[in-house]
Amino acid sequence: MATERTLSIIKPDAVAKNAIGEIIARFEKAGLKVVAAKMLHLSEEKAGGFYAEHKERPFFKDLVGFMTSGPVVVQVLQGEDAIAKNRELMGATNPKEAAPGTIRADFAETIDANAVHGSDSPASAEREVAYFFGADEIHSR
Ligand code: PPS
Repeated sequence: MATERTLSIIKPDAVAKNAIGEIIARFEKAGLKVVAAKMLHLSEEKAGGFYAEHKERPFFKDLVGFMTSGPVVVQVLQGEDAIAKNRELMGATNPKEAAPGTIRADFAETIDANAVHGSDSPASAEREVAYFFGADEIHSR
């Protein structure tokens, strides 16, 4: 297994629930290291650009509206198999289908407000990390 980096976003619903610490603790307990982090209130342009691949989907407008509804915490997680490990900790996109004990099962209510985002492949991880962080903002050591 390779050491990887992945982008994680704690979404506005989870920030509003005061769950930032509990979510980050799950990453750390699973062996993922937070090597970059910032709290942002995304503009429509920034959120729309991030989800550009979903631009034609019926839920795109609602997704951008939700992601700009309050602050988010964006982090880079680093560790062995970080992309898959993060997706496992998050659970399924729809919290109703998320396995018990996953972040979405415990903190998310609906598919629209589902607590966290995590990169789904090495290519998206690379793009998404660079979308939010410059090389000088990532602290690997
Ligand atoms: S899909 O259907 O497999 O392409 O969906 P996915 O790649 O898992 O992610 C789609 C992102 O859009 C958010 N979202 C929704 N997805 C599906 N249906 C509805 N109604 C919907 N509303 C919002 C979903 O949370 C995914 O966000 P991220 O941040 O990538 O997890």
